[in-house]
Amino acid sequence: MMASHFVRRSFLALCISLLSGAAFAQDKPASTAYEPEVGQSGKDVVWVPTPQSLVDKMLDIAKVTPADYVIDLGSGDGRTVITAAKRGARALGIEYNPDMVALSQRNAAAEGMGEKATFMKADLFETDFSQATVITMFLLPDINLKLRPKILGLKPGTRIVSNSFTMGEWEHDRSVQATEKEGCQSYCSAYLWIVPAKVGGAWKLPEGELTIKQTFQMITGTLKTGGKSTSIKGRMSGDHISFKAGDAEYRGRVSASGIKGTVKSQGGTGDWSATRSGKAAS
Ligand SMILES: C[S@@+](CC[C@H](N)C(=O)[O-])C[C@H]1O[C@@H](n2cnc3c(N)ncnc32)[C@H](O)[C@@H]1O
Repeated sequence: MMASHFVRRSFLALCISLLSGAAFAQDKPASTAYEPEVGQSGKDVVWVPTPQSLVDKMLDIAKVTPADYVIDLGSGDGRTVITAAKRGARALGIEYNPDMVALSQRNAAAEGMGEKATFMKADLFETDFSQATVITMFLLPDINLKLRPKILGLKPGTRIVSNSFTMGEWEHDRSVQATEKEGCQSYCSAYLWIVPAKVGGAWKLPEGELTIKQTFQMITGTLKTGGKSTSIKGRMSGDHISFKAGDAEYRGRVSASGIKGTVKSQGGTGDWSATRSGKAAS
């Protein structure tokens, strides 16, 4: 009786342990094989992956090289970060959903990119991305606008690429499309902005004065030389300045010490330089 009771209890214990083992075995793969669903909610934006053909074009348009530090804001399954790492760049994904972070880390490791492609679980609004040389994102128009002041404060020349959504009245510098033939069905356009150096305000030239009004990368203003005032119109591309004043074409590079460059006119080509003569316009 005792023996049969023991056998029955042992059998019961074995069944329970087998059952819980089976349940554990079922649980385990489910937690490691997390499968995100397109459209699943995210903190501020749902998850929709950028088609790989557009990821490639976004990194092309930003001219990503091994010298870059690419940060993807809201990095989803990590595809943009991993693709940038494959190009030799250091790349970081900032993603709020911890399951997506873990998935990205697994994806990066599976592609042998675990060193260069890293991910952090964080809120993009509370994370410092000022060290990036390239920012990629696929967010929403109002989020882009909310981020815009921070982006405009980044180092001049930082490239920003956004899948589908623009930056309000800050016009993009270039755009790119992926086609259906290339495997892109939706969200197939991306826009590039280059953070412009701040040049608004008054400048002194050896031969006169330059006043610049800057709206994002666009510049207008007046050049006064030899008692003559000429309107200028041009643009910034990072720290590169170019504008026309009458028939003269000015190009140059802006640094903390001023602007230095060349000017081409019917009279020939020469050098020009300018230093700040007042406070920079805010
Ligand atoms: C449209 S998906 C883009 C994913 C990826 N960048 C791509 O292009 O394939 C947006 C991602 O942002 C994440 N996200 C939403 N709000 C966020 C926030 N405040 N901070 C960080 N990530 C966020 C979502 O979880 C989602 O993965």
